[in-house]
Amino acid sequence: MVTASQLAALTRTLPPVAAHADAIATDFYDRLFAARPDLLRDRFNRGEHAQGRQARELARTVVALAEAVIDAAPGSGTSSSARAAATLHPTSRQAGAPTLAGSTAAEITSRLAQRHAALGIRRHDHPAFEAALREAMRASSASASSSHSDSVSVSDEASPEALDDEAVEAWTALYRQVIAEVADAVDDLYRHADLEPDEEWREAIVTEHRLEAEDVVALTLVSADSEALPRYRAGQFASVQVELADGARQIRQYSLRGGPDEQWRISARVLDGGGFAPDGEVSTHLRDEIAVGGVVRVSPPIGSLTIDELDDAPLLFVSAGIGCTPVLGMLDHLARTEPLRPVTALHFERTPERHAHRTELEALVAAMPNASLRVSYTQGSLSALTAAGGIGESIDGQGAYLDPIDLGTVALTAEHRVFLCGPVPFMAIARAALIEHGVEADRVHYFVFGPDDGSVTGIDTGQRGR
Ligand SMILES: Cc1cc2nc3c(=O)[nH]c(=O)nc-3n(C[C@H](O)[C@H](O)[C@H](O)COP(=O)(O)OP(=O)(O)OC[C@H]3O[C@@H](n4cnc5c(N)ncnc54)[C@H](O)[C@@H]3O)c2cc1C
Ligand code: HEM
Repeated sequence: MVTASQLAALTRTLPPVAAHADAIATDFYDRLFAARPDLLRDRFNRGEHAQGRQARELARTVVALAEAVIDAAPGSGTSSSARAAATLHPTSRQAGAPTLAGSTAAEITSRLAQRHAALGIRRHDHPAFEAALREAMRASSASASSSHSDSVSVSDEASPEALDDEAVEAWTALYRQVIAEVADAVDDLYRHADLEPDEEWREAIVTEHRLEAEDVVALTLVSADSEALPRYRAGQFASVQVELADGARQIRQYSLRGGPDEQWRISARVLDGGGFAPDGEVSTHLRDEIAVGGVVRVSPPIGSLTIDELDDAPLLFVSAGIGCTPVLGMLDHLARTEPLRPVTALHFERTPERHAHRTELEALVAAMPNASLRVSYTQGSLSALTAAGGIGESIDGQGAYLDPIDLGTVALTAEHRVFLCGPVPFMAIARAALIEHGVEADRVHYFVFGPDDGSVTGIDTGQRGR
């Protein structure tokens, strides 16, 4: 546990750390990967790393954790000025995106546990992380007391004391407290899935491999040994690890699409860099290098956002693009277990050629007497976001637009539960529109196919009040 004196040191140094969190996190990853190149090669997403996204997410999360721990401490009134300075400083957050401010430490650790469980991060990985964190904090501290400019400086912001030894110890103590809680939560997740530690990754054989729509590859997987792949709950996903041409074993997550048997079905939209950026490494590999009989490694099914643990409210699914995959998993489950459940599905896709699993979607909805489906093809139409002068010209990549979601045509009640899945700006718009239509925020659930930076709930989409 963080002690009272460590809490005071955290409070004192939160503003300078928040002000330079991105730089400290970047320095941290440089150190971590210099010491453990295998982590970048085989565990972290190296494309995301090249774009600096992991550093931004780590910075944002560490600052939010410190804020949450400080705020939760008895008599935390003294923290509010530090907190305000930390959350308001422009460099402590990604442009346009909110912090995790307001989340409790428990909420953040639970989110991290899901992410880390899906990647197989275990206790033996912790020391390297702690060592790099200490070094990055010390490097920032060192520059506070010298005039060298080649390391990260935190001296000029908010506190002349910056990061002394006491502060480095306090931030390390915070790391230890959080990672211990995350590791316990990861253990719980595995226990819940009836898995022993170190049993988590399995080999799976591809038994079906086909192109679904123009850029989506659909795979069916079965266990490579006599023990079947674990059963999953509708809405869960698994990590898939593939060995790439240069020997790197990269990991990505894919939603489990449904089916009554012990086979797993996943679908990946192949990311096309369009000549400006590299093509997606794993999705391209799954399409071009994997064939029937090929082997991939898979994690256990992960994910707590599943419909079978919620109430029996009427459901609205709103998906766009490859966001159809968890919806297909949930519809498949409902069609088999609760075919009379009132369900509305809205799906948005740019063109019919890009629409993966349309036949499957229509068949599932047709099998449920109280279910209805509306599909919108949106290429060429202007999004509400653009019209509102919102966050960019497009909410689904350059040159492609999604129609505004016309909730006037949906028989929405206050009882409805809503599941969203699609590009983050799309979900931000949809969520804001749903809340505007009277749906309680806590009844709007969403799946993010990447780092969750909070944009779905935090962004001002310009749709409110419409
Ligand atoms: C819970 C969850 C469920 C998911 N479910 C699905 C699903 O069902 N179906 C699905 O298709 N996806 C799903 N995803 C997304 C999936 O995990 C991958 O993120 C996606 O397939 C892209 O991976 P990739 O390896 O092809 O692309 P990456 O290689 O990860 O590339 C990502 C981006 O980084 C850029 N990039 C790569 N290398 C560099 C570089 N060196 N410099 C600069 N930029 C670079 C690429 O151009 C691309 O824009 C899910 C994600 C999560 C978290
Ligand atoms: C308190 C300690 C830690 C914090 C606050 C933390 C925070 C984070 C955050 C914010 C993310 C991004 C979440 C997302 O992608 O949505 C992440 C992902 C990840 N973390 Fe941690 N982490 C911690 C400890 C560790 C440790 C000890 C390891 C071990 C090596 C680790 C390995 C990873 C990996 C591999 C990813 C996936 C990154 C990717 O591929 O995009 N983390 N972590």
